[in-house]
Formats: sequence, C-alpha cells, structure tokens
Amino acid sequence: MTESNARPNWQWDETAKISTDYCDETQAQNYDALHVRPDRTHAEYEEILDSMNPQPDWCLMDIGCGTGTFAMAAARRCEHVYAVDISQAMLEVAAVKARDAGVSNITFLQGGFLTYEHGGGAVDAITSQLVLHHLPDMWKQIALGRMAEMLKPAGVLYLRDVVFQFEHDRHAEVFDKWVDEVAELFGQACMASQAESHIRREFSTFGWIMEGLLKRAGFDVEQADYSRRLAEYFCRKI
Ligand SMILES: C[S@@+](CC[C@H](N)C(=O)[O-])C[C@H]1O[C@@H](n2cnc3c(N)ncnc32)[C@H](O)[C@@H]1O
Repeated sequence: MTESNARPNWQWDETAKISTDYCDETQAQNYDALHVRPDRTHAEYEEILDSMNPQPDWCLMDIGCGTGTFAMAAARRCEHVYAVDISQAMLEVAAVKARDAGVSNITFLQGGFLTYEHGGGAVDAITSQLVLHHLPDMWKQIALGRMAEMLKPAGVLYLRDVVFQFEHDRHAEVFDKWVDEVAELFGQACMASQAESHIRREFSTFGWIMEGLLKRAGFDVEQADYSRRLAEYFCRKI
C-alpha cells in the first residue's frame, strides 16, 4: 500500500487504457455512432430483457454501462437501475441521454469491477456487456466474486462479451472470420482494425475458462451460448 486509503500496489489498474480510451471525451461522444445500430441494438436489448424476465420491483445493476443504452432499456422494466462505469466521460454521455429521454430511475456511479463499493442493498440482477474482457482472467475471477457478493440469493447475472470457443489450432481461421463479421456488421473500415486490436491486445478468453470462473464465483450457469458473434451467459447465484 502507498497510503492508508490508496489501492494496493498490486491492484490491477482499471483506468489504464488497454485499447480504446473510454475515458476520453471524444471517444465517449462518438461511441453510439460507431457501436449502436438502431436497426438491431434496441431489439437485441429487449430480447435479453425478455429472457431475464425482470420484475417491476427489481433493482438491476449494469456494470460498464458505457453510454447507458441498455441501462435505459432496463429502467423501463425495473424499479431502479444502478449504471456503473469506470469512465466519467461515458457516464456523462449516458446521464444526458437519460435526462433527455425523461428516464429518472437510473443512478449513474463511477467505479470499476474491482473497486466499486455498492452503497445500496443487494440487487436482483447484474448485467455486463462487452466489459469483462478488459480484465485478465485472474482479475475476472475476482470481479465475478465481487458481483456475486452484490447479488441477492438466487440473483441473476447476465454477461455478454467476446469469448471464443474453438480448438486452439484453428485460431487463425476463427479470428479472420470474426474480424470480417464485425467489419460487415458495422459497415465501417475502422471496425475491422478495432476488432483486430481487440484480439491482439484485450483479454477475451475461452468459453471453458469463463464457465469455470463463473462456477467458482458461485454461479449456476443456466445457459451459455456461443452461436453468435458475442457469447452470452445467463447465470444464477447459488
Ligand atoms: C465496449 S464499452 C461497452 C459499453 C456498454 N456496456 C455497451 O454494451 O455498449 C466498455 C465499457 O466498459 C467500461 N469499463 C472498462 N473497464 C471497466 C471496469 N474495469 N469496470 C467497469 N467499467 C469498465 C468502459 O469505460 C466502457 O464504458
């Protein structure tokens, strides 16, 4: 430890940029134009919420909420949403969007998987999309354990992220195909280089590792789906 309130020196630095700098205001302002596809993103979010079946009295926490698009969809179905992100710049964009849309039941909070201290009670559900790959696997385990602690008994965890499920000798073929799919889906040349950079520098892992981490953190993995571009996990705290 450096000082009494500081993080230990061995703590993973969640604010360090691993590829895209989400703490940068310009990146935050441009995020939706690059990543939100009005023709499918909203429908995908409604499908996820349908599967989670949130109850009107639920408190849901979205970690790595980014510009808050999913948090806003969840807020229409839950009593309260805690939208947590390490980047103040992303949270500011999200808060303006929610205010402009008249959504008032979201609390925006700055914090990371490893550092966020939840002041409210245990929540009914935690969601996190496209975020866990920011942590190396050892820290993913610690993050998942912290999520389990913030959930009520039998609480729901929904994760969606870039997780690969292939035999290691096929990696070149799988990565080429994945980069092509991302570029085609978003129709922008810069997304191909972002996808390549993701594979080269970020911490996407194998499905068998992710499922092991979830089980060790105390979750029952009710559904793990690798059939689409992003892997999905519906889990329940045991
Ligand atoms: C690719 S964006 C995804 C945003 C949103 N979940 C979505 O699906 O559009 C990744 C987000 O995770 C946040 N983030 C990165 N590392 C984090 C961490 N350790 N804890 C919490 N948020 C983190 C970034 O600031 C950024 O807003």
